[in-house]
Amino acid sequence: MDSDDDALMREQIAYYRAHAGEYDRPYAEREELRQLLAVADALPILGDVLELACGTGQWTGKLAARARSVTALDAADETLAVARARVTAPNVRFVRADLFTWQPPRRYDTVFFAFWLSHIPPSRLPGFWDTVAAALAPHGKAVFVDDGPGAAAREEVLDQEPVPAVLRQLDDGSPYRVVKVFHDAGELAGRLAALGWSADVRPMGESFIAGAAEPPAGAG
Ligand SMILES: C[S@@+](CC[C@H](N)C(=O)[O-])C[C@H]1O[C@@H](n2cnc3c(N)ncnc32)[C@H](O)[C@@H]1O
Repeated sequence: MDSDDDALMREQIAYYRAHAGEYDRPYAEREELRQLLAVADALPILGDVLELACGTGQWTGKLAARARSVTALDAADETLAVARARVTAPNVRFVRADLFTWQPPRRYDTVFFAFWLSHIPPSRLPGFWDTVAAALAPHGKAVFVDDGPGAAAREEVLDQEPVPAVLRQLDDGSPYRVVKVFHDAGELAGRLAALGWSADVRPMGESFIAGAAEPPAGAG
């Protein structure tokens, strides 16, 4: 039987599949996003990198420039097609996977995710961090960027859903619900600490947060 958020998870993937051709527009139009992309050069990215929910590959090429290898996962064939066309670096491999069922087949030095954490229902967050821990080599780090509370003003927040969600529309007006949790940097650091992670999470500009986290000793 479906849990409360299974239907939303399917709708979220359907949204990104249908939205793939429109996805890159904010990266072209929003100066704050272009500035955020530039921080990739200063993030602690090294070794073999696993990128979760890579989307159209906006971050993948930047990771590839600093990594030995990048394995980039996403659930949507359509976004992966855009990413494959954008990023042709020989050290990058793209994989289609649903992150709520996928299990890491090996360990990585860095697990990176941009604008993914906010799409995870709160009830699935501990399981997600367990998966990240299982994907990290000893001394590996999770590194992430996402929307923070300041980004909520740009969204149509839905209050009647079983999990925090917003309404998105395609250019043709088709509506989709997606999960959206606007994590506050301090609260998220506290939640990660409660799960045993050592995390440094900071606000970035008016809209974003960025973090780096190491799993509990012996995790995964
Ligand atoms: C906001 S986009 C982020 C894309 C990219 N990381 C970026 O920052 O531009 C979220 C991505 O999550 C992917 N996604 C949604 N549900 C997923 C799931 N269950 N498993 C894997 N990827 C998923 C979507 O296809 C989409 O590409």
